Amino acid sequence: MEIIVSKNYDELSKKAASFVIDLIKEKPDSVLGLATGGTPEGMYAELVKAYEAGKISFKDVRTYNLDEYIGLDGNHEQSYRHFMNKQLFDHVDIDKNNTYVPNGKAEDLEAECENYEKILKDLSYADIQILGIGTNGHIGFNEPAEELILPTHVEPLVEATIEANSRYFDSKDEVPKEAISMGIGSILKAKHIILLASGPSKNEIMKYFNNDKISTNIPASLIKLHPNVTIIMDEEAAK
Ligand code: F6R
Repeated sequence: MEIIVSKNYDELSKKAASFVIDLIKEKPDSVLGLATGGTPEGMYAELVKAYEAGKISFKDVRTYNLDEYIGLDGNHEQSYRHFMNKQLFDHVDIDKNNTYVPNGKAEDLEAECENYEKILKDLSYADIQILGIGTNGHIGFNEPAEELILPTHVEPLVEATIEANSRYFDSKDEVPKEAISMGIGSILKAKHIILLASGPSKNEIMKYFNNDKISTNIPASLIKLHPNVTIIMDEEAAK
């Protein structure tokens, strides 16, 4: 596991983007596993800049996202599909048919999860999987628990996550209570995992990367089992 401490959020974003840019240059039809949330926003802005500067093309890139809220369709401003369009897909030459986000409005959620898992498999999983981390250690929406589910599944959001994500909604009541999330097993199938952590609120949870333990109560700790992990955090998260 490689740990990179960047001076600030700007440097973290540039560093994270540089891994993706190098990958796309080397393999133009790369598969990217993407995350939403505040942390990767700067990285997406850097990727858009690299595209605008003619350094990379997304023409043949395929992407899949970690998760989506149940009950929100892709046009809802807080849906993760909308987030991805706004942050990245609308600004680059990617074919949106090659971008996958679970359908939070699927009538049959179990079938949607199974189908999503099949998509990941057909894509042979991500060359790089970007992850953020919740203050409670969640990755995707895999919340701390005695047991974790390996494939894509329906996950109830815990109170801490509803609270943390309410900043994007008009009120806490509007935050969906469930999500479709890739499981730990599908996340660990990526060839390279890059976890990003920024700011003092991630300080406490990042301490857990200083030891040689894993715990399902800190789902992010399971990435310690993966042979190719890079953690990029800023000084505030690393303190
Ligand atoms: C989002 C996701 C979540 C976030 C995490 C951190 O797709 O999977 O696990 O990465 O909640 O969110 P931020 O970056 O907003 O602190």
